[in-house]
Amino acid sequence: MKIFFIFFFVLFSFLVHSCLSNNMIMRTQSMRDGDVIFSQGKRFAFGFFSLGTSKLRYVGIWYAQVSEQTIVWVANRDHPINDTSGHIKFSSRGNLCVYGSVNGTEPIWSTDVLDTISEPALVAKLSDLGNLVLLDPVTGKSFWESFNHPTNTLLPFMKFGYTRQDGVDRFMTSWRSPGDPGFGNVTFRIERRGFPQMMMYKGTTLWWRTGSWTGQRWSGVPEMTNKFIFNISFVNSPDEVSITYGVLNPLVITRMVLNETGTLQRFTWNGKDKKWIGFWSAPEEKCDSYNHCGLNGYCDTTSPDKFECSCLPGHEPKTPQAWNFRDASDGCKRSNAASLCNGREGFAKLKRVKVPNTSGVSVDMNITLKECEKRCLRNCSCVAYASAYHESEDGAKGCLTWHGDMLDTRTYWSAGQDFYLRVDKAELARWNGSGSSGKRRLFLILISMIVVVMLLMIMLFCFIRKRRQANRHKKPPSTFAPSSFDIEEPFVLEELEDKSRKGELPLFELSTIAAATNNFSFQHKLGAGGFGAVYKGVLENGMEIAVKRLSKNSGQGMEEFKNEVKLISKLQHRNLVRILGCCVESEEKMLIYEYLPNKSLDCFIFREEHRAELDWPKRMGIIRGIARGILYLHQDSRLRIIHRDLKASNILLDNEMIPKIADFGMARIFGGNQIEGSTNRVVGTYGYMSPEYAMDGHFSIKSDVYSFGVLILEIITGKKNSAIYNENSNLVGHIWGLWQKGEAREIIDTLMDAESYEESEVMKCIHIGFLCVQERASDRPDMSSVVFMLGHNAIDLPSPKHPAFTVGRKRNVKNGGSSGNCPSGETGSSVNDVTLTDVQGR
Ligand SMILES: *[C@@H]1O[C@H](CO)[C@@H](O)[C@H](O)[C@H]1NC(C)=O
Ligand SMILES: *[C@@H]1O[C@H](CO)[C@@H](O)[C@H](O)[C@H]1NC(C)=O
Ligand SMILES: *[C@@H]1O[C@H](CO)[C@@H](O)[C@H](O)[C@H]1NC(C)=O
Ligand SMILES: *[C@@H]1O[C@H](CO)[C@@H](O)[C@H](O)[C@H]1NC(C)=O
Ligand SMILES: *[C@@H]1O[C@H](CO)[C@@H](O)[C@H](O)[C@H]1NC(C)=O
Ligand SMILES: *[C@@H]1O[C@H](CO)[C@@H](O)[C@H](O)[C@H]1NC(C)=O
Ligand SMILES: *[C@@H]1O[C@H](CO)[C@@H](O)[C@H](O)[C@H]1NC(C)=O
Ligand SMILES: *[C@@H]1O[C@H](CO)[C@@H](O)[C@H](O)[C@H]1NC(C)=O
Ligand SMILES: *[C@@H]1O[C@H](CO)[C@@H](O)[C@H](O)[C@H]1NC(C)=O
Repeated sequence: MKIFFIFFFVLFSFLVHSCLSNNMIMRTQSMRDGDVIFSQGKRFAFGFFSLGTSKLRYVGIWYAQVSEQTIVWVANRDHPINDTSGHIKFSSRGNLCVYGSVNGTEPIWSTDVLDTISEPALVAKLSDLGNLVLLDPVTGKSFWESFNHPTNTLLPFMKFGYTRQDGVDRFMTSWRSPGDPGFGNVTFRIERRGFPQMMMYKGTTLWWRTGSWTGQRWSGVPEMTNKFIFNISFVNSPDEVSITYGVLNPLVITRMVLNETGTLQRFTWNGKDKKWIGFWSAPEEKCDSYNHCGLNGYCDTTSPDKFECSCLPGHEPKTPQAWNFRDASDGCKRSNAASLCNGREGFAKLKRVKVPNTSGVSVDMNITLKECEKRCLRNCSCVAYASAYHESEDGAKGCLTWHGDMLDTRTYWSAGQDFYLRVDKAELARWNGSGSSGKRRLFLILISMIVVVMLLMIMLFCFIRKRRQANRHKKPPSTFAPSSFDIEEPFVLEELEDKSRKGELPLFELSTIAAATNNFSFQHKLGAGGFGAVYKGVLENGMEIAVKRLSKNSGQGMEEFKNEVKLISKLQHRNLVRILGCCVESEEKMLIYEYLPNKSLDCFIFREEHRAELDWPKRMGIIRGIARGILYLHQDSRLRIIHRDLKASNILLDNEMIPKIADFGMARIFGGNQIEGSTNRVVGTYGYMSPEYAMDGHFSIKSDVYSFGVLILEIITGKKNSAIYNENSNLVGHIWGLWQKGEAREIIDTLMDAESYEESEVMKCIHIGFLCVQERASDRPDMSSVVFMLGHNAIDLPSPKHPAFTVGRKRNVKNGGSSGNCPSGETGSSVNDVTLTDVQGR
């Protein structure tokens, strides 16, 4: 009898529950704690939840597809329910209300539709985008939606911003703490005053500014235009100012969260690892903090050792004493205020700028930049101008003029726009660096004299060196070190000692290293690196090391040695080879690295006997690891580094097959005003060099991306790019031909375990490889996009354009890569000076 009763009760309550149709609440229904409604495609859920161990109950929306509790919207933020007696139902006037108990009369939260909704069919429905909508299903008319009331999360396709007429303002407010979704201190919104920009406030303090919209992105968020992921639409019309981050592929799960400490973060869900990946966050650098350099100052972190603040052209520190102590909060004042409007002025151009606060600017979208300049010159209160949109389809557009103090200006390494500051003639000359004042002329004369003297010295030096080299050919090689790098030795010694003093780079004693390598015996030799032989050693404590020894009798490796010392001790990443120390004693110069037992990547992918060892997960792991390592170099390390010689023999593998990028002998730090470099001495390895680098000597982060693309294709095919395949084309050209015929699968390494991969995944990887080797550098994705694409299978990739495949006549060009013994520890010989005429593109 009792059991029967219980059964009946369960059945009854089940029936009551199922009255709630699965993805909506009808006007006549109510919802209790425990009920959940799902969106049509089961992507989002709406109902009651608790956070962590807390008993408090909230009503909100969360991802139904994601295994980790991830709340994207909360209704009763400041009014949690103490127990599970909460209820949700429509009020008589049609508002959706949350009540604290079954019989509650005062709702603790309610939608805010003012007019009575008469539609009897009114429902609350959860959409697959995560939007809870009150609508009349018959007419489709919507009365209220949760997307118009963001909490701390911005979902794709959610509109952000305000309307000018009816006072809707969609902005984000952080939670109070990770366990408390109440209204927190941090807000993020599109500012109403002046030219649109987004601002983050902590309490009432302005904390971060995105800068104004430049046509493609916010000027202070250079990373945020990922053409492969987002479809961003910005609207600035008489009706509204808003931005929507759409995703091109609706299956990509991504959200932007304003966290309670004042950081905006974007995460994407990685279904494979079942976790959220932090993809982007801001503010990040000192220069991002609002007004870091005070009135009329600007912030520039591109040179790591310099004080990041400077005064805008035409300005000087208000309190130079404070500036001496790296405190710029007082800002700058005009150097000579009287001369602002004397009719003899011009504009100093500052490049790659996040323009100052646009809250007070005058805007005219109708005039060109030239007219803008004239307008600013005519108006004595105008201190600066810039184009409103500099990245719009039809070129630079519109005119912004500043009148008064300029706040929160910064410069970027590779983004931002041109900014024109009004200065007097003298200042302009100083800024242009091409003045004609007497002092200037004297300075120029001095400089040219120095240059002439230096040229003479260099000629003399080369002459002597030639003579010496000629002599050396006659005599048997002596153990005496030639003088060509003795000259530079003090510098290296100083730098190394300085580093070891700072604890950056331990010094090893020569005797230790000699003992570890059995006096540099032939058996211990692993191969030849960029600037000398590489030995394997075992320290007394059993630790295995790789020792790179600068050849004694050539001055050639000195530059690379210095470069490597300079760079690598500052870098630390799982996917970069780790330096343990160095040794400089008498004539010996050595760098000591961790020893990696598995040799370099080329030993695996280009050797039949080893290729089978690499199944697809291993290859994919290697590709991802290399990508992360490069991303670190390009973006995440304190320095911005272009490696310039990425190739299979420079990728070492540890015993878990984790790839480590090695050999920074040719890497370049990018700082100051550089976004791309150029050189007359093209170094690098045939087959991995991008066309713009090989042919014109231009290198940029995109030349590394090119090399990475080649690596992907090599890893998948097990073939060298530099070899010639059919019809005179290299590997890239060869696969491209097959790809266009839809036959690229033929190229997948036949020695790779066919069970270990899905063809579609490999094809996607080839696709990414092709995106990286596109002819035009600007078409190639940056490494953050590459890492993203590699991590997300659901992404729709754009079609690659024609790749660059350089076909070289192999005159002076050595074929890079391993030579015979397949060295481990360090790399195969690689420094090829490829003169420009030797390589031809097509
Ligand atoms: C929860 O409990 C607190 C204190 O016990 C009380 O002040 C509050 O009104 C209760 N909230 C609800 C929704 O019952
Ligand atoms: C709700 O009201 C009903 C009758 O109006 C009463 O029987 C019930 O005890 C009430 N429940 C609570 C939790 O107050
Ligand atoms: C909010 O900001 C105010 C002032 O900025 C601060 O005093 C307060 O502690 C902050 N509250 C929280 C929860 O962080
Ligand atoms: C991007 O968004 C706009 C407006 O929201 C839409 O018209 C367009 O079709 C979208 N493009 C893609 C590729 O999704
Ligand atoms: C907020 O974001 C910053 C930066 O990503 C992070 O260090 C911090 O832990 C986050 N805070 C919380 C509470 O998640
Ligand atoms: C900068 O913007 C903030 C926020 O709108 C405003 O309070 C401040 O006065 C602005 N400063 C200038 C110089 O325009
Ligand atoms: C641009 O100029 C045209 C004609 O001079 C005018 O009709 C229009 O309103 C102007 N637009 C704006 C945004 O000022
Ligand atoms: C200069 O520009 C300011 C701001 O736009 C404006 O208020 C003022 O009238 C202008 N002065 C002249 C002389 O045009
Ligand atoms: C300085 O450079 C600007 C633009 O780069 C130019 O218009 C101006 O004439 C130059 N002035 C002098 C004094 O060289």
